[in-house]
Amino acid sequence: MISLQEINSLPPPQFVAALSGIFERSPWVPERVTHARPFNSGLSLHAAMCAAVDRASIDEQLALIRAHPELAGRAAIRGELTPESTREQQGAGLAACTPEEFARLHQLNGFYTQKFGFPFVLAVKGHNRASVIAALEERVENTVEHERAVALREIARIAGFRLADLVDEPLGSRIIAMAEQLARFSERQDALVCSYLTPAHRATAALIRDWMLGAGLQVDVDAVGNVIGRWVGTAASSPTLLTGSHYDTVVDAGKFDGRLGILLPISVVAQLRGAGVRLPYTVTIAAFSEEEGVRFKSTFLGSRALAGRFDPAMLDSVDSDGTTLREAIRAAGLDPAEIPSAAFAAGDLLGFVEVHIEQGPVLLNESAPLGVVTSIAGSIRCLVSITGLAGHAGTVPMHLRRDAAAAAAELVLAIEKCCSGTPGLVGTVGQMQVPSGAMNVIPGRCELSVDIRADSDQVRDGAFAAVLADSERIAARRNVDIQWRKVLDVGCVPCAPKMQQLWADSISRVTGNAEVRRLPSGAGHDAMVMAGVTEMGMLFVRCGNGGISHHPSETLSADDADLAAYAFKDFLLNFPVPS
Ligand code: GLV
Ligand code: MN
Ligand code: MN
Repeated sequence: MISLQEINSLPPPQFVAALSGIFERSPWVPERVTHARPFNSGLSLHAAMCAAVDRASIDEQLALIRAHPELAGRAAIRGELTPESTREQQGAGLAACTPEEFARLHQLNGFYTQKFGFPFVLAVKGHNRASVIAALEERVENTVEHERAVALREIARIAGFRLADLVDEPLGSRIIAMAEQLARFSERQDALVCSYLTPAHRATAALIRDWMLGAGLQVDVDAVGNVIGRWVGTAASSPTLLTGSHYDTVVDAGKFDGRLGILLPISVVAQLRGAGVRLPYTVTIAAFSEEEGVRFKSTFLGSRALAGRFDPAMLDSVDSDGTTLREAIRAAGLDPAEIPSAAFAAGDLLGFVEVHIEQGPVLLNESAPLGVVTSIAGSIRCLVSITGLAGHAGTVPMHLRRDAAAAAAELVLAIEKCCSGTPGLVGTVGQMQVPSGAMNVIPGRCELSVDIRADSDQVRDGAFAAVLADSERIAARRNVDIQWRKVLDVGCVPCAPKMQQLWADSISRVTGNAEVRRLPSGAGHDAMVMAGVTEMGMLFVRCGNGGISHHPSETLSADDADLAAYAFKDFLLNFPVPS
């Protein structure tokens, strides 16, 4: 490996030489980015080189594609591949093809090269012989333009894998760069939105999968789109420590909520594996596909599937376009009937741990970079529909109106009153709409969301009951109908004392400070669901920008991410495995 710092400071010829293996036999690619140094991460170096390929002429791009060897072709058999290609082809088991497989590959490679005038290029990481043959069979049907684009995309992926193996950089800045890169996949140009099974969400999952493959994990995508990467332990039937968080986002989100708890473990595992470490247990990283409940109000969908707590009735939920969850899962090429098999058997698990930004100001205000979570507040979420009577805004006197929005306004204030004054209790109306509303029409209908949370179920339930009583009074007085539909009800979840202690030990070892801040989480997390099946613990990392979250200014520093990575590494290396 070579440090990013060294890459940035090498004289140009040595820089090109150091990167000569990244784009197959094509030193012109690194040559063209020599003057764009310094790069602040391996990922930005990768992006710059890929951009140089994009800007190159079609002839140069074709030369780059043609610089690649055939998969399991004559050069491979004669041992004439670059060391990188040799390793990659062996990794996919291509060196061990049966005579029939060789014959089929040879035949397909022949068709392909004849049709397109360049060899079939595929990033084989994560593939096996059968899937390589299947990919060839499929791609040989494409048009030349399409295949040229696919080949260049595969070359960019290959370069990403090779670069990750080559560049040594501080984990904190790498994690931040990864989060920045994921945030480019969004449903909107002006804001980060990544809701369940949209194209942005699929692209996010594909890149997470690539990063897991690059870290040397065995990767599967389950029936709800969770991306699951396993680092198998040394023992024959090693038990599993599960870690992870979600990759979907709220609307106009920050870049780190959820994603930190995926990217940090991937980076740490890559580093440990690279250093030759083997653990006596399996570490499985789960990138949960859905936690925020934005598109289908299906909060915790990903972790529910993994915990075996998925409710099939959920498949009938619809998004704002009327697409059912079932249809969306099928359209993504996943099979709703397979959801039960996504569940982990509780008996195989050593526990679940989640790394997450705090999403609040406590650690920041106390100058503590890391904290141990003691419990996660429970929440009730409801969708409320108020029906009054629409009418002409100019003709109906005020005392004769049945205005649904005015009733909603009163309800919002009632929720604020019922949830104020008790520490740990909070109530929020985050969405409010007047469907088909117009400036000159009295609102006949109003829809709102209600979210009530507390660190005690008794307090939360008491507040909810008070809100419902107020809702009845408002409905009676204003002669409107108020319908409540509960979409989430999860109790407050304590973190396992053992996990809290292990995190506290790791934090004090990496910070050198015996005093460790312990704090409850007001935000919900996948860890709440996983606590139903195994011992659960959470590490909080300090936010910047006043602790703001669920907002584009959400941030954390590279130093804090680095320290959190050290704490996670320490946690893994010291995790006690029952004998
Ligand atoms: C999850 O982000 C929550 O709403 O707490
Ligand atoms: Mn969130
Ligand atoms: Mn989150």
